[in-house]
Amino acid sequence: MTRQSTLFEDLWAPELPPGFVLQAQALSLDRQKALLAAVRDIEAIAPLSRLRTKGGGLTSAAMTNCGDAGWWSDAKGYRYETTNPATGAPWPAMPPVFWDTVREVAGHSPWPDFEPDACLINFYTPAAKMGLHQDRDEKDFKHPIITVCLGDDADFQVGGALRTDKYVNVRVHSGDVLLMGGESRMRFHGVRKIFGGTSPIANVNGRYSLTFRKAL
Ligand code: FE2
Repeated sequence: MTRQSTLFEDLWAPELPPGFVLQAQALSLDRQKALLAAVRDIEAIAPLSRLRTKGGGLTSAAMTNCGDAGWWSDAKGYRYETTNPATGAPWPAMPPVFWDTVREVAGHSPWPDFEPDACLINFYTPAAKMGLHQDRDEKDFKHPIITVCLGDDADFQVGGALRTDKYVNVRVHSGDVLLMGGESRMRFHGVRKIFGGTSPIANVNGRYSLTFRKAL
């Protein structure tokens, strides 16, 4: 892990497995605000919505996308779509501040050449969560998934190769970046809890995660 080691590290940051990288406080408050403004522009074109799952329920988090492809779920299952099924329009382009951020982050990671073509934006109210799952709808699992955290703190679950494997909770804060690649690419992961009211950015009542992928 990239977080600086301290005497008390095991009290607040569990040992993370190879391929799972936490870039703690990688993004300045100004950058977080710029990313949030870009997210709000995307929401104006492609509104957040809770998606129908195969089981007939709705996702707890609300979702939208930008880039060449967007992740989607409905009765037909999980997949990437190059247009927004809700509007029929192409997904909004990935804004420049998204590109700048993901290139800077990747440049300081084991995957410096990562070039995403999709960004799934999840919004969690303080009551929302996401169960343990694998990200397996992308074409080639050799590419990492890079997650930018904005807004409220959260406990991110890092599990193993099986849903039933033990997991650790990693407390993530606005401005933190999580990278899952290599031997951790197919790890089960989830969001166990959002800590409402902890966002350092005004006007966010909840947590956004911007999850950059190479989908196609
Ligand atoms: Fe995921």
